[in-house]
Amino acid sequence: MFVDPSFAHDVRSYLQRTPRQLPSRYFYDELGPALFEAICRLPWYRITRSETALLDAHAAAVLAPLSRPIGLAELGCGSGEMLAIFATSAREPLSLVQLIDISPAALDMATYRLAAIGIRNVRTYLGTYEEGLRRASQDRHASGPLVVLFLGSNIGNFDPAGARELLVRIRTVLRPGDGLVLGTDLVKPERELLLAYDDPLGVTAAFNRNLLRRINDELGGNFALDGFSHRAVWNSSQRRVEAHLVSLRRQSVRVDAAHLDFTLQQDESIWTESSHKYEAAQVVEDGRLAGFGHAEQWIDREAGFALTRFTV
Ligand code: AVI
Repeated sequence: MFVDPSFAHDVRSYLQRTPRQLPSRYFYDELGPALFEAICRLPWYRITRSETALLDAHAAAVLAPLSRPIGLAELGCGSGEMLAIFATSAREPLSLVQLIDISPAALDMATYRLAAIGIRNVRTYLGTYEEGLRRASQDRHASGPLVVLFLGSNIGNFDPAGARELLVRIRTVLRPGDGLVLGTDLVKPERELLLAYDDPLGVTAAFNRNLLRRINDELGGNFALDGFSHRAVWNSSQRRVEAHLVSLRRQSVRVDAAHLDFTLQQDESIWTESSHKYEAAQVVEDGRLAGFGHAEQWIDREAGFALTRFTV
């Protein structure tokens, strides 16, 4: 079993914050990516469907202005579904495909999916976006542009300052002629957002609770999985959906490997994720502030999702 070396440390420090928190990056263990895959197929979670429709229609146009051969590096590749669309749309062989993810299970899924369409010049980077970006830029193919794909509204899981910092990092490793393609979920009515993040089948609740199961299995925790309910809240002033695990009763928690012992009160919550939603113009502005050049944007028919290509 792969155990992330910073897991125990982060669990200890985030669970002691007020309010108590856990970083959402730890959702993605062996089981997490499979649960996320199921979320992407739920009728209420439209991000994947909107992005797929945009890519099916425009991936070739997104890549058209770039010189050849193109190298693609995807941050948070998940199952590799979007990458496969890009790879097929490139129309010419890609110089190299680089997959960056914190989940070994996701890297395996994406590599397998790409192999199934005949793409074998793939390198995987297990780690955070920052580490992966640094290593991927060192390994990039000598000729041709590098296009960084940051899709699926993965950027929305960063707070605005963290998102801006990450855009600057991406810009720093790129060279003139390279590009960034950013997929962002847009602000929409609260009712739709709450259904997307608290679905009637309870898949998102399972995805959220799986974090406690992971802590129990990997760090010797004693979370009672049936002692928590999943809650999604739209925070309109911060333009984010927050996910919480709410304690159904007063309970004592112990996490051996994190040297942690504490009591959760009834109704006390652990904040596990934020999914920030964007205005389309804000995405362009954030890219400009991070030092990117020209931006071109494609928005889906329901005005729910934006795909933005930045030049360097
Ligand atoms: C991966 N990330 C962009 C998803 C999101 O929408 O924030 C993760 C997710 N959380 C609950 N549902 C999906």
